[in-house]
Order: sequence, then structure tokens, then C-alpha cells
Amino acid sequence: MSNRPDPALPWETSQRRNGARRGAVEWWHDAVCYQVYLRSFADGNGDGVGDLAGLRRRLPYLSELGVDAVWVNLWYPSPMADGGYDITDYRDIDPLFGSLPEARTLIEEIHTLGLRILIDLVPNHTSSQHPWFGEALAGGPGCVERNRYIFRPGRGSDGDLPPNNWRSVFGGSAWSRAVEPDGMPEEWYLHLFTPEQPDLNWNNAEVHREFESVLRFWFDHGVDGFRIDVAHAMSKAPGLPDLGPADIELIGSAAHPDHPHWDREGIHEIFRGWRAVADSYAEPRMFVAEACARNSERLSRYVRPAELHTAFNFDYLTSPWRAAQMRTAIDKSLTTMAAVGAPTAWVLSNHDVVRHLTRYGRPQAEGPVHDLADHLLAGPFDLELGTRRARAAALLTLALPGCAYLYQGEELGLWEVEDLPDEALQDPIWQRSGHTNRGRDGCRVPMPWSGDTPPFGFSPDHAGSDPWLPQPQQWERLTAQVQQDDEQSMLELYRRALHIRRAHPALGKGALLWDPTTGPGVLAFTRPPGFQCIVNFRPDALRLPDHDGVLLSSVPLDSGRLPGDAAVWLTR
Ligand code: BGC
Repeated sequence: MSNRPDPALPWETSQRRNGARRGAVEWWHDAVCYQVYLRSFADGNGDGVGDLAGLRRRLPYLSELGVDAVWVNLWYPSPMADGGYDITDYRDIDPLFGSLPEARTLIEEIHTLGLRILIDLVPNHTSSQHPWFGEALAGGPGCVERNRYIFRPGRGSDGDLPPNNWRSVFGGSAWSRAVEPDGMPEEWYLHLFTPEQPDLNWNNAEVHREFESVLRFWFDHGVDGFRIDVAHAMSKAPGLPDLGPADIELIGSAAHPDHPHWDREGIHEIFRGWRAVADSYAEPRMFVAEACARNSERLSRYVRPAELHTAFNFDYLTSPWRAAQMRTAIDKSLTTMAAVGAPTAWVLSNHDVVRHLTRYGRPQAEGPVHDLADHLLAGPFDLELGTRRARAAALLTLALPGCAYLYQGEELGLWEVEDLPDEALQDPIWQRSGHTNRGRDGCRVPMPWSGDTPPFGFSPDHAGSDPWLPQPQQWERLTAQVQQDDEQSMLELYRRALHIRRAHPALGKGALLWDPTTGPGVLAFTRPPGFQCIVNFRPDALRLPDHDGVLLSSVPLDSGRLPGDAAVWLTR
């Protein structure tokens, strides 16, 4: 059993290492957090959409897997123009997913298992069906309610041109024109995402008060933290100046040093206010930022001591499977985060990007790849290679200092479903790109739990509806049920790695020392006391250095050699 640890290791104990689980102060420094994309995790009521009832039933799975916290993606009432990132009520649960009392029960159950719970906060925009937006439209130009959003007169003699040239991240102009009840066009409103997601005006004190109250509402319900959606977007340049040519090329990124709507200085004041709210609670509360900054120094500004606690490391996520690029991403992140006293939050996949198993199963780019459209150009997909690299990547990620985020299904070895039928696609990117970009549905396909035909236990037996996205038949060999008894499976690799990580004194927080003697195509580092991780990115096998024991390897070792595209954890 190559990926089993040596028996009776001295540090192996049933005690939690330093308690990323409940009770520990600053638990986010080394927690492993599992992202539950709620609509695709488990369907409790048989309507084909994941919900709180389904999640509650699967909590023992998460606890046994060995994670410390659960980030539950969007559960708020929403017309679902963007998978729920268009919220109409920040203090309730969409009936599609359950109810507020059920959310309270879920929070208690998560805590009873010794886990923590994070939820999403979407502060850049509401739904266009939020009562505030209805009031803004009804009140007409100049009303106070309109000042909660960003309305402007159009350009051109009839005002029929958008106020500036900003582009929606999902394609097309970032402006839509409001229409009076009699059909007369009037002012334009800003939406950096879909027209159903109008941007809030963060120069308005009422908006600040409202979000601080929302934070308290959920903290009072026992939520341990928030993942801040597009944390780099709330502050806009005075006068809303046009984008320059370079910014138009790079819609989603903050490449420009003074970008008019990404990663602006004004954001930090907002976060200082939120940190004060979190710090006013006796039991620690935290924030993790989904922030795109132009470099890791800029990103580290979001997690300075009086601001947010952690920020996803997207440089790591978008690195190709190449030792040099991975090492650069790791080094830069560790250095810049350490400079502000924050842990690094490692992540390989989420609900917005192509699953890493699929990215790694293609010829690797020199630079970052995360958009499905670009990714498809990269050549044929090799499932075996992608799986092999994903296994190695799991061991690399969980051996790094800091906290880590797992995206549901990566522990089962799920791949991106790239052949969803056109009519099944629901991501607004598909429509807004004029059917040129298939969007993010491929990483959101419902989880396979058991059985040999769809819905693979995702919905209860005899459910009335099919899963909201079709699952590939080949996932019959990736169900949690099939994998749980197979010691060579991805699921067992993750379980074992998480178990070791929790018990081993070197893992989680602490130092990382690179081994200076390794050649190109290899990453090798030591974590004191007594732990070494070696990742072989090359195709050929590598002779292992002297060591005391093998804790875990991503593939069977070959007479003391680590095969290509594989990783090993050693004691020494
Ligand atoms: C979320 C996306 C969402 C967008 C707009 C992102 O960062 O993760 O899923 O479409 O924000 O809210």
C-alpha cells in the first residue's frame, strides 16, 4: 500500500495538533477549509438542486475527510442570474436551498462536529430585484435611493451612449440604461458583472452601515467568517474615467497601476471597518478575500493587521504544473504575506475556474491558465496524467505553510465536464459572450456520491428531477462510495494527507526550508521538525535522498525512487 504511512509514528496521536477546529484562536493560520458549492453538493429534497438538507446529511463525510472548516457558497434569496451572486435579501435563505431556521440548525451541527463555517458576502453588487434597486428605479434621477447605486446620465446628444467605456467582466458594456414606466429611456446604471447585478455606491454611508449590520446578523447566528466576493471592486475612481487601452484588453485583472475600478486604495478603509466588527466578538471571526491584485505585494495589503485575515492565492492556482513557476508563486506569497503577518491561503480550484485535474492534464503553458476558452486551445486532455499530477498537487498544497482551501470534488478526482450540452449551460458568461465562452458550469457539475448511474446519490432515490447539470456516466468509478474502500483512490489519499497534516507538528503553521541540492523540475523542502516534501515535476523517476520513513506518496514508489509527476512526504 504505497500511500499508507509507516505504522506507529511517534507524533501520530488522536489529539488535534493545535486545533484549527473550534476553540483555537487564529485558527485560520493553518485550517483546511472545504468549499461546498451548495447547489451541486447534495440534494436533500429531490428537486435536482443541492440544498441545506443535503449538506446536513453529508456533514459526517466532511468531518471524516478531516477538514477544519466548511465554506458554504451562496444561500441567499436570489433570482439566480449569476448562480446566486445576485442577492435580494442578505439576511435570509433562498427557499430553493432551505430556510433560516434550517441554516441555524446547520450552523449548530457544523459546530457540534468541531468544524467552522464560512459563508459568502457579496458587497460589490446586489440583485436588480433587491428592494433597494426597485426604490432607486422608482425614485427617478436625483432621488436619495438612487445614490445607493451608481447611476449616471448617458453620453451623446440624446444620452444614448454609456457614461464611459467600462466593460462587464462577463462581456459587453458595464452599463445598462434604465427605462421609465412609460418606456422612455433615462439614466444608465453600472454593473461590472451582469445587468442583473447593479454595483453599489460605496461612497454612500448607508451602504457601509447596511453591510456592517449584515456582518453582525450572521456573526450573531454563529457564522465564523466570510469569503468576500470580488473584494477588489468596491472602490471606483472619482469621475469614473474611461479605461485605457491596456485595461480594456485585461477586463478581469488589475494590471494598471491606477485602474479606475479594480484594487483601489479606497477599499482598505471599508475592510478596516469590517475588521473592527469581527474583532468585537469574543469567539474569533475571520474574512478571506477573493481579491485580484496586480501582484502579491498589492494582495498583501488586503491582509494587513487591521484589515482582512487571509486572501486566496490565485498566483498559485493559475500556475502551470511546472516546478519553477510553482516555486515562484510559493516564494512570493510566503514572503509578501509574512511581511504583514498573514498566512497564505493555498487553493487549486474553485467554482469559477477549470478544475485543476483538467488543467494539469493538458500540455502546460509557460504562464497562467484559468479561463476555459484559453484552456481548450492548450491541446488534448490526458485524464491519467491530470489525475497523477492532481494527486501530487494535493500533497504539495497540504504540505505548505498556511491554510488551504479544497473545492468540492477535487478529493474525488473530478474533472472539468467540457462536453455539457449547449442547452444545459446556465452560466451567464455563455449568453453574454455570444456563445463564444462556455463559462464555468463544467466545474459545477453535481457531486457523485454512490451508485452506478446518474444522479449517483446526489438526489434521493426516486427524486422528481434530474440534477441541474448532467453528470458524466464515467463518474460511476469516482463516487465517494466506490473510493472509500479503495486505498489507492484519490479520496483515501486526501483523507490520509489531512489526517497526517492535522497530527504532524511540522505541518500547518511554521517554516519552509527549500532543499538547495535539488535540480530543475523538482521541488523539495523541509518543514521542521522532521518532515520533508518532494515533488517530481519531471517525467523520469528521481532517487530519493536519505530518509527515516515514508509518510505518504501520491503513487507507489519504485525501489526508492519517486516516479515522474508524483510527490512524497518523508520523515527525516
Ligand atoms: C464569484 C463569481 C461571481 C462573481 C460576481 C466572483 O468572484 O466567485 O462566481 O460570478 O464574483 O459576483
